[in-house]
Amino acid sequence: MSDAGFRVLCISGPNLQLLGKREPAIYGNETLAQIHDRLAVRGRELGVNVDARQTNHEGEIVQWIGDALGVFHGLLLNPGAYTHTSIAIYDALRAVGLPAVEVHLSNPDARESFRRRSRVAPACVGRVAGFGGESYLLALAGLRSKLR
Ligand code: DQA
Repeated sequence: MSDAGFRVLCISGPNLQLLGKREPAIYGNETLAQIHDRLAVRGRELGVNVDARQTNHEGEIVQWIGDALGVFHGLLLNPGAYTHTSIAIYDALRAVGLPAVEVHLSNPDARESFRRRSRVAPACVGRVAGFGGESYLLALAGLRSKLR
């Protein structure tokens, strides 16, 4: 646990376990495990303990967000394709009211038109997209500034 005692839950959604192998021209060569390692290091620098997880299941994301209330101070969330479809995840974010930052490796706005709508964005304090694995670290710094 860091000195400041801030706790952040980082959730990555469907297909992100394949990072490193999945369409590297779009998502880069870094694995999710490597991103999680970098988050832990940056978290220590920022005074934040980061619990980083991945699931392919929408309901599990909803459950983890609901369970975060009273345990975590904020959320980093890359919902993968559920970004564009999930009212359940939007509702979960609204229900807990924790500050959440939407994270994407790619820039969805510069891709297919169906990626331009984010269902979760209206429930987030901000969004970082387009910087590969670095998006997670930038989002952590942004979220940390909201926790001051
Ligand atoms: C993604 C962007 C989504 O549109 C896509 O469905 C993903 C990954 C990203 O991190 O760039 O699975 O969330």
